[in-house]
Amino acid sequence: MLIWIKAARYIRLSRRDSLANSLMRICTVVGARPQFIKAGAVSPALKAAGIQETVVHAGQHYDDGLSAIFFEELGLAAPARNLLAGSGSHAEQTGRIMRRLEAYLDDIPSFDAILVYGDTNSTLAGALVAAKANIPLAHVEAGLRSWDRSMPEEVNRIVTDCLSTLLLAPTQTAVHNLEAAGLGHATELVGDVMLDAVRHFAPRAEARAPLNQITAHASGTYALATVHRAANTDTPSRLDGIFGALGQLPWPVLLPLHPRTRARLTSIAVPTNVEVMDPIGYLSMLTLQKHARTILTDSGGIQKEAYWHGIPCITLRENTEWTETLEHGWNHCVGADPASILHATQTPPTGPRRPLGAAPDGGSASAAIARALIRNHRR
Ligand code: UD1
Repeated sequence: MLIWIKAARYIRLSRRDSLANSLMRICTVVGARPQFIKAGAVSPALKAAGIQETVVHAGQHYDDGLSAIFFEELGLAAPARNLLAGSGSHAEQTGRIMRRLEAYLDDIPSFDAILVYGDTNSTLAGALVAAKANIPLAHVEAGLRSWDRSMPEEVNRIVTDCLSTLLLAPTQTAVHNLEAAGLGHATELVGDVMLDAVRHFAPRAEARAPLNQITAHASGTYALATVHRAANTDTPSRLDGIFGALGQLPWPVLLPLHPRTRARLTSIAVPTNVEVMDPIGYLSMLTLQKHARTILTDSGGIQKEAYWHGIPCITLRENTEWTETLEHGWNHCVGADPASILHATQTPPTGPRRPLGAAPDGGSASAAIARALIRNHRR
């Protein structure tokens, strides 16, 4: 009897919640590859919580291999509007997204909040437009810091965090960073949505993108590398150093290449053990990560994915936002110096991995985000 009463009360409360939530309308701004992956985890959770979401694609990434394939693989609904911002200098790209997003929001008013992910120019543009239009701003992956302001992403994060009304932090380290910046009042620890994405999509990856359909190399016999940061691609000595090190590795190196890096290949000798590939989708990437012997990357997300898969990572930067991954040598930040890169590949981890990015209640970060949005909407 008591159980029945409790269940009836729960159903009544859930109905009331979803009635209130159905009044909540949010506009999500995505623009680049990692944001499509994060939306692939979060959008279904928003829907399940009764939040009405409208997705706007800034158009920062526009090649099929960097954009369309992610919408298809992750089952994302087509965006309500593509702002077609395209490439350009930071100011050009950010300004173009801002102008077009502002015009869109003028046409379609009454969003209760704008949601942005991560640290790209699309994120910054979404944050500035939201703040100036007085629309509450929620930032997923808030509080990360590399402490290196020469990185455009670091500038984008700092500004976005300062403008946000709700800071959705993936880790305790991110929470500390936000508290130290005086932003603790707006911060909630929700966990890492990239972990949700890995948990949800890794089993599908094995079925839809099996290793033998991506490469002829067997599991554990190759290294996986990615290079796309401007600091590496636009500094010839760094790019030489990285390719020099890849060429000295005793394994084949699979290198799915961002168009920015491919454009630099004309001035670089690609070593014979390095197999350059076109950019690949998320499912193929998860498969290649899982079966790699080691991963070398300058991406933020791939460092974490390597950690979750239990594959040693070498970060081709001098710093990382994900300092937890450095513990026991699961990740080494070595920059672009060939000797340091090679030494790191010969230095295996010395201890176990600790859980990274789990939601505080043991559920999913995406569901925690939906709940935080609703709570803040009601305040
Ligand atoms: C952006 C993000 C970076 C993120 C990365 C994910 C910023 C400042 N950087 O870097 O944090 O890790 O996305 O991949 O927002 N290009 C194409 N086709 C495309 C898109 C870009 O060829 O569809 C080429 C263009 O030459 C462009 C260059 O890549 O100029 C760089 O693109 P951009 O969007 O400026 O930055 P990313 O390097 O992709």
